[in-house]
Amino acid sequence: MAFDRFARNIHYLRISLTDHCNLRCVYCMPEQMTFRPGQDLMQNDELLTLVRLFAGLGFDKLRLTGGEPTVRAGVVELVREMAATPGVRELTMTTNGVLLSRLARPLKEAGLQRVNISLDTLNPEQFHRLTRRGSFAQVWKGIQAAEEAGLLPIKINAVVVRGYNDHGVADLARLTEHHPWQVRFIEMMPFGGATDLQRSQVVRTEEIIARIEQVLGPLELLDHGALDGEARLYRLPGAQGTLGFISSVSLPFCASCTRARLTADGKLRLCLLREKEVDLLTPLRAGATPADLRQIILDGIWQKPWGHGLQEGEFATNRVMSEIGG
Ligand code: GTP
Ligand code: 5AD
Ligand code: SF4
Repeated sequence: MAFDRFARNIHYLRISLTDHCNLRCVYCMPEQMTFRPGQDLMQNDELLTLVRLFAGLGFDKLRLTGGEPTVRAGVVELVREMAATPGVRELTMTTNGVLLSRLARPLKEAGLQRVNISLDTLNPEQFHRLTRRGSFAQVWKGIQAAEEAGLLPIKINAVVVRGYNDHGVADLARLTEHHPWQVRFIEMMPFGGATDLQRSQVVRTEEIIARIEQVLGPLELLDHGALDGEARLYRLPGAQGTLGFISSVSLPFCASCTRARLTADGKLRLCLLREKEVDLLTPLRAGATPADLRQIILDGIWQKPWGHGLQEGEFATNRVMSEIGG
């Protein structure tokens, strides 16, 4: 088991399969994004070696992220191998949904359990403006495909950006009336290569809730306000699904953090919003033994920072969001 020096048991590994993406969301990356060359990224065998090591250290929850994880060649085979790794109890993915209409079924058959899908607005023009190239209809088909394939429960992630989708939050919330989905509204976080937009256009949870309640009436708080992962849950009266609010800026949840990240170029990243990383790929390529690598991982986890400094105006600048995967 891996513990940090604050006695948190770290057992949730978010694995970025690639920094590449088929969208260019305004809150995530610059329009003219340059991606890493292929040789910098972990090869399949390297990735699987590290996954086995993490699983052996008690990491029982794996989430595949990107960039966009579905654009990685051979993603279905990677899922199959990871799902069969002893110690892995939960294998999930966070995706933009663009390729799900084709991949949902094969991914499910390979052992993926569920998906969180980004969908920031139901308005096709707004969607295209926010993602700089995406098609709403294609993602909508992807969500249907995920549901039909049984990648359940479906969670929808919406980052709220003032001037882009803040007027559409009630429409997104209304999806839960007839779908058993968890629709989650995410406060935008500032990040490396941070554009001014990431700081100036943040909409805080309080305002998102007020906008929804103005149109749809009072929300019911669920679980007495306890967090589900990083989301606080609510429900529209009588709705099939739930609403979640991820308030990284206004209500940090670092005290209960159980996560570490493996970047596509093989670094152990200890906090989403802190720059500290430990290189695993270089020692692996230099012939480090499994025992050496295990020790490097355990030492790294021990050094995990307490939490982020967003409220003090501090944030990491060494990577853009798409290089870490949220
Ligand atoms: P579940 O297992 O379904 O709870 O998934 P998840 O919420 O852990 O994963 P997802 O990729 O859907 O994350 C949702 C959003 O939460 C991300 O897009 C980020 O905005 C935010 N988030 C994820 N991890 C962290 C973290 O460690 N710190 C902070 N501040 N925000 C995070
Ligand atoms: N702030 C908060 N969440 C972000 N994501 C991407 N960029 C940001 C940001 N600046 C989220 C996406 C997706 C995940 C990959 O990361 O919504 O759910
Ligand atoms: Fe791609 Fe996701 Fe970033 Fe959008 S948020 S550009 S879909 S990685």
